[in-house]
Amino acid sequence: MLTRRDFGKRAGLLLAAASGSSESALAQRAIAGLGNAPPGTIWINANELPDGPCAAAREAMTQVLPETGRYHYPEFRDIYAAIARSEGLDRSQVVVGAGSTEVLQMAVQVLTSPVRPLIASEPTFEVPFAVARALGRPTVSVPLTSSYAADVKRLAEEAAKAKGGLIYLCNPNNPTSSLTPKDDIAWLVANLPSDAVLLLDEAYIHFLESPEQESGLAWVRQEKNVMVTRTFSKIYGMAGLRVGFGCAKPALIRPLAALAGNVISIVSARAALASLREAAKLVPERRARLTATRDTLCRWLRQQKRPYIEPHANFMMIDMGRDVRSVIPEFLAKGVAVGRPFPPLDRMLRVTIGTEREMAEFRRVFEQVL
Ligand SMILES: Cc1ncc(COP(=O)(O)O)c(C=O)c1O
Repeated sequence: MLTRRDFGKRAGLLLAAASGSSESALAQRAIAGLGNAPPGTIWINANELPDGPCAAAREAMTQVLPETGRYHYPEFRDIYAAIARSEGLDRSQVVVGAGSTEVLQMAVQVLTSPVRPLIASEPTFEVPFAVARALGRPTVSVPLTSSYAADVKRLAEEAAKAKGGLIYLCNPNNPTSSLTPKDDIAWLVANLPSDAVLLLDEAYIHFLESPEQESGLAWVRQEKNVMVTRTFSKIYGMAGLRVGFGCAKPALIRPLAALAGNVISIVSARAALASLREAAKLVPERRARLTATRDTLCRWLRQQKRPYIEPHANFMMIDMGRDVRSVIPEFLAKGVAVGRPFPPLDRMLRVTIGTEREMAEFRRVFEQVL
């Protein structure tokens, strides 16, 4: 039985995890202590999309504002069903959270235990490791391969050794922007130990030319032990609105849904629905703009003979030739906030792709810093 003391201890741990591990908290913590950002600083440090919410989402939010005195609970069943339908899934296969961060937190809490580790590549998005550690759960990290893909053989071996556990695989991977080939992931799904679950984080999947083809959602539809997380924070430009969701078979979704703290705000929900209605046009348009800006940066880096990891998302990693811990404050002092360090890739700087103007400024400051 859970005593009051245990409960207090557990709640404290969860609170620590929640306040300490999200992209915004990590970005905020990395900037704190580096000195003040000069006025007009450009923020290319947290993988947000400068486009923001689309016009239809902004309109939907404006319309609902006068009605926010109500909870709107009668609507949420339909809202969540619409989000599920957008991925060809049933309502029972989806859990919605305050950003995909909340879904990742719930997944780690439910699908790891004192004997079921979290197993993931290193470096990857820090949240799952941070939550597992805050909960006192065992963790196993596996280095990326030399092409910065997840080492699926080793991930499967570690899960077999532990007789289960949760394998977290971020594709494209944050911070490297690299891709794990679909065939490798298919191999992992086919070779998952029976008591293991594969958590595929697809926060950046829309930046790929053929997201549906690369996605793991097909395995969710086949009721494999696979969970896929998605977010409205990236291509939909809604990071501040906090909407994300997880997809899996009902047996995996049910225990997570029982933990979901609350419904999302009606303002965010209406914006998400409006964005989904625009998705067929919005996603390829935004991807094309982003890819063009990113290509310009890659071309320029090649001219500078500056190595980088081939990018597949709205950010990339550039080899600075020295420890980025000394580089990051220099950029900030000159009005450019760039990504935090991601050990063990100590010389790699993570840069979010902003607007054309922001990236031109980034290139100007880059020359000065080097
Ligand atoms: C890989 C990855 N997953 C999930 C998230 C969380 O996004 P959100 O909670 O805003 O949906 C991020 C944020 O940067 C991320 O990089």
